[in-house]
Amino acid sequence: MTRKSVQRILSGQPIDPAERDTEASVRPRRLADFVGQVRVKENLAIAIEAARSRGEALDHVLLFGPPGLGKTTLATILANELGVAIKTSSGPLLERKGDLTALLTALEPREVFFLDEIHRLLPAIEEILYPAIEDFRIDLVIGQGPGARIHPYRLNRFTLVGATTRAGLVTAPLRSRFGIVHRLDFYTPEDLKQILARSAALLGIEVDEDGAEEIARRSRGTPRVANRLLRRVRDYAEVRRDGRITRQVAREALETLGVDEHGLDEMDRSLLRTIIQKYNGGPVGLQTLAAALSEEEDAIEEIYEPYLMQLGLIDRTQRGRMATALAYNYLGLPAPRGAPSRLF
Ligand SMILES: Nc1ncnc2c1ncn2[C@@H]1O[C@H](COP(=O)(O)OP(=O)(O)OP(=O)(O)O)[C@@H](O)[C@H]1O
Ligand SMILES: [Mg+2]
Repeated sequence: MTRKSVQRILSGQPIDPAERDTEASVRPRRLADFVGQVRVKENLAIAIEAARSRGEALDHVLLFGPPGLGKTTLATILANELGVAIKTSSGPLLERKGDLTALLTALEPREVFFLDEIHRLLPAIEEILYPAIEDFRIDLVIGQGPGARIHPYRLNRFTLVGATTRAGLVTAPLRSRFGIVHRLDFYTPEDLKQILARSAALLGIEVDEDGAEEIARRSRGTPRVANRLLRRVRDYAEVRRDGRITRQVAREALETLGVDEHGLDEMDRSLLRTIIQKYNGGPVGLQTLAAALSEEEDAIEEIYEPYLMQLGLIDRTQRGRMATALAYNYLGLPAPRGAPSRLF
């Protein structure tokens, strides 16, 4: 198996349209079915209930966190719980002002407008959003040239749910207009086990406790990865075994897929090895690292690093990325004195 395809299995990003379909079939629809993220869930439950009892639109919600942690899922759950429709768009899709204006003016009272990849809005488009979410107003420009007039247009009160994988790239003025801001964290193996059990039941996959635990531990804290590995392990179980997923079967399958015990693969290891062997443990800048690995900077920042940092294998400092003592241990290398040490 090539490095690229291995990496894709562990990527939190969706792989192909077919995966979107299976995801839709296991996607929780109610808050009660959304596993983990307890604090986020509790806060949202309170806000939803308050908005409902007042008959008002819910405050605007900004969700951020690495790919595959449930931002889109939560947006649809919010609409379901509020009993309203959801309309969806995405930062890069909105190229002209008219695109956004058309969407906004079509929103019914209290509806959810889900704007994915909100950090990728063009500045001119983002400016339309400010009065729209603050005062539920847009300024339509009628006519052209010196005779043009600005005509304020009242929108229905709606809820904007913004999602982004890159909180740092959301501009301050936009961010400040959200009343509710939540960061989704990586899931614990226990949460992932529960998600796997739920998905397995929905998809008719037979997996025992230990089998689910084994997959959960290697899923990089990411529900999308867990669900993906579940389907791959099922394939293996059906072709090579009797179809039932036990711990042993899960181990064999994941090993075949190049996924190690911590949910790391060859790409992760070569990233660590590069920092250690080529750059003496770091610090090394993102650009340099990306060039050395022939990878895109974005991919490193969005896909590999968050989980490696979560495991305590790398540190991000002002001067660049550093391998921790744990990273040396993990690769079976002696850690130098100066290597930062962190706890798992
Ligand atoms: N808390 C959860 N409980 C159960 N399943 C979940 C949970 N979070 C996510 N999932 C599952 O993981 C899949 C991916 O989640 P989702 O599409 O919401 O991620 P995302 O954060 O929007 O990712 P992206 O950044 O790529 O848009 C969903 O199809 C859903 O089935
Ligand atoms: Mg999404």
